[in-house]
Amino acid sequence: MKICTHLAEWRALRGSPEWAGLSVGFVPTMGALHAGHEALLARARAENERVVLSVFVNPTQFNDPADLARYPRTWDADVALAHPYVDAVLAPPAEAFYPDGYRYRVTENSLGTQLEGAHRPGHFDGVLTVVLKLLNVVQPHRAYFGEKDWQQLELVRGMVAALLLPVDIVPCPTTRDADGLALSSRNRRLSPQARTLAAAFPRALRTAPTAAAALTTLRAQGFAVDYVEDRDGVRLGAVHVEGVRLIDNVRL
Ligand code: PAF
Repeated sequence: MKICTHLAEWRALRGSPEWAGLSVGFVPTMGALHAGHEALLARARAENERVVLSVFVNPTQFNDPADLARYPRTWDADVALAHPYVDAVLAPPAEAFYPDGYRYRVTENSLGTQLEGAHRPGHFDGVLTVVLKLLNVVQPHRAYFGEKDWQQLELVRGMVAALLLPVDIVPCPTTRDADGLALSSRNRRLSPQARTLAAAFPRALRTAPTAAAALTTLRAQGFAVDYVEDRDGVRLGAVHVEGVRLIDNVRL
């Protein structure tokens, strides 16, 4: 497994004879890897001859600087988890990815302003911009995204279609703990008490007869709710528990 922190180093590897003509699968992440990421890596390993992981805490997708500062960084554990699945890890410094100081960016003007976009202004500009840069740099045949981030997945698919990018976006099912909570890098910030309560979030999304009923149930249980909404056969929600923001969705 090769670790590339310089873009030039990565480009030399990508263009080397050992990678020529082989299918490349790509899993973009911000690190703090968990079993959900591992499922994406395992799928990429099974479907491609070469697998690339990126670990890049993308500053432009954080609308709250405190959230960026608190984001967990677990480099050694990430490398250990990735090792069995991955041929290369791309982990560039922020300056390498934003030589323009973020003057150029990708904006989607419809879905990107709703739901998560309404509560985290600018978030999807940052996500789409960094995903476009990553796809340009990595040049994968397939890129793997979790369905937990439903809106991110929809917007990335839309961008790939709109900008005619030569990559297949592969959606992967959400990985959940035994009590139903979707795995997320943010879960590690939950106290034991908050972690127990958090399992009620997907349960309410799944069992309430309507989005409005789910919202009422969640508020009664002590969650601060940003939204619960039904769209395209999916119920989407975002809540806060003890200051930790969780998002999830279930198929209706
Ligand atoms: O889902 C994530 O971890 C991030 O939004 C992504 C796709 C790696 C872009 O920074």
